[in-house]
Amino acid sequence: MSNSTADSATIYVLNGPNLNLLGLREPEIYGSQTLDDIAGMLEDRGRELGLEIDMRQSNHEGHLVDWLHEAQAEGVKAVLLNAGAYTHTSVAIHDAIKSIKVPVIEVHLSNPHKREGFRHHSYVGMAAQGTVCGFGANSYIVALEAAARL
Ligand code: DQA
Repeated sequence: MSNSTADSATIYVLNGPNLNLLGLREPEIYGSQTLDDIAGMLEDRGRELGLEIDMRQSNHEGHLVDWLHEAQAEGVKAVLLNAGAYTHTSVAIHDAIKSIKVPVIEVHLSNPHKREGFRHHSYVGMAAQGTVCGFGANSYIVALEAAARL
């Protein structure tokens, strides 16, 4: 028997600095799909899972902090967060994740653990429920499927 309700739950998908340039930016690392392409993939899969996707991008750290607070205030089901380079630097984003009850899933297109040493530390991962990385645009889809099961 299904427990689903008529209203679909919302998932925030928050993207940090330089991800607006996906498709152009180092395609050998990040692939040729744009952020709009990924939004389309998420919306298609979200429809199948009964989840509404709210996709955002900012190059500014404070916007990501504000949107994490908003996720709590709006009662969203989960947040997928690709904080870009702020992953490796931002205590403010770490604290924001810990300040809310909404589960946050860390997402990366690349696998930071296979890359430069400065990418091996993640302030996001230390606070997130879990991490999906290394599958290109499909990292977002795997993370959405995990969010659907929370
Ligand atoms: C990234 C990995 C980060 O190390 C990098 O700074 C990014 C993209 C990824 O999705 O693979 O901007 O988050």
